[in-house]
Amino acid sequence: MNKTLQSYLEDISGEIRKLPLDGEPGELYKPVSYCLENGGKRIRPLMTLLGCELLGGDVKRAMPPALGLELFHNFTLMHDDIMDGAPVRRGKPTIHKKWSINTAILSGDVLFALACRYISKVPDSALRSVLDLFHQTVTEVCEGQQYDMVFETKKDVSVDEYVRMIRLKTAVLPAACLKTGAILAGAREVEQQKLYRFGEYIGLAFQLRDDWLDVYSDSTEFGKQTGGDIISNKKTWLYIQALAMAGAKQKEFLLDAFNRPGSVDDNTGKVEAVKKVYDSLGIGELAQEQMKEYYSKAFGYLDIVCVPDSGKENLRELAKNLFDRKK
Ligand code: IPE
Ligand code: IPE
Ligand code: MG
Ligand code: MG
Ligand code: MG
Repeated sequence: MNKTLQSYLEDISGEIRKLPLDGEPGELYKPVSYCLENGGKRIRPLMTLLGCELLGGDVKRAMPPALGLELFHNFTLMHDDIMDGAPVRRGKPTIHKKWSINTAILSGDVLFALACRYISKVPDSALRSVLDLFHQTVTEVCEGQQYDMVFETKKDVSVDEYVRMIRLKTAVLPAACLKTGAILAGAREVEQQKLYRFGEYIGLAFQLRDDWLDVYSDSTEFGKQTGGDIISNKKTWLYIQALAMAGAKQKEFLLDAFNRPGSVDDNTGKVEAVKKVYDSLGIGELAQEQMKEYYSKAFGYLDIVCVPDSGKENLRELAKNLFDRKK
C-alpha cells in the first residue's frame, strides 16, 4: 500500500526543517532559511519520490536528491524574482526587496551549492545518470529564463517559441524530478523516458496555469503580485493568443495598453486594460482548453508505464490537484 500524498509532503517538510541553514555569516544564510520557511507546494520533491515509488524503488533513497531538486527550484525563484522585478512571493516580500539584489544573488548561489550537495547523495551506481540529467536540466532552465527575458522586448513571439521557452524554463524540472526517481528505482531507460514525458506535459500545463493565475488569481491566495506579467511585458500564452485572435481595433487597443509603463498600483490602468481584451476574447477559457490537451498527452505517457495501474494513483491525484490550483 503506497503512502498518501499528504504523508509524503509531511516527510519532505520534516526533512527541509532539518537542513543545515544556520551557518555564518548570517547575512548569507538567513535569506536562504527565509525562502525555505515560506513553504511552497513542494511538488518537485514529491514528484521525485513518486517517480521512485511508481517504479518500485526504495523511496527513502530518493529523499536527498528530492530535497536537492527543491533547493534548486528555490534558487531559481530567488534569481527569477530579481529578473522579473517581483515584489512578493509566497505572500512575503521577495529576498531582493527585503534585503538587496546582491544578497539575493549570493544567497541564491549558496543555495545552488547546497542543492548540488543533496543531489549527489545517491548510490554510486546512479550518480553519473543523476548528475548528467541535473546538469542538462540546469542548462535548459537558464536557456528558458533567457528566452523569457528576450521575449519581453521581442514583438512577434509565436506560440511555438513560447512553448519552447516554457518547456525549458519550467517543464524540464518536474520532468527531471520524476526521471531522477525512476533512475533511483533502477528502472529501464524506456520507462524513465515515459515518466520524463509525463512530467514535461504536466509542466507545460503548470506554466499555463501560472500565466492564468498571474492575471485571474486573488493575489492574497496566489501569494504573488497579480498582474505582474502584464506589468513586466511578459509574452505569456494569454498575451500571444490574444494578439493572434484580436481584430484590427482590438489589436491596436491591446498593443497600446501593453506599451504603457506598468506600475505596482496599476496607476496607468495597464493591467485592467489588457485584462479587458483577454476577457472579451475568452482567452482565460482557451488557456484551460490548451491545458486539457497537455494533460491528455501527459496521461497518455503515464498510462503506458509498464507497472500495475493501481500504482499510478498518487501521480494522477497530484496532477489533478495541479490542474485547478489556486496558488
Ligand atoms: C513557481 O513554481 C515557478 C514556476 C515554474 C511557475 P511553483 O508554483 O511550484 O512555486 P512554489 O514552490 O509552490 O512556491
Ligand atoms: C519561472 O517562471 C520559471 C523559473 C523560475 C525557472 P515565472 O517567472 O512565471 O514564475 P513565477 O510566476 O515568478 O513564480
Ligand atoms: Mg517570475
Ligand atoms: Mg520569470
Ligand atoms: Mg509566473
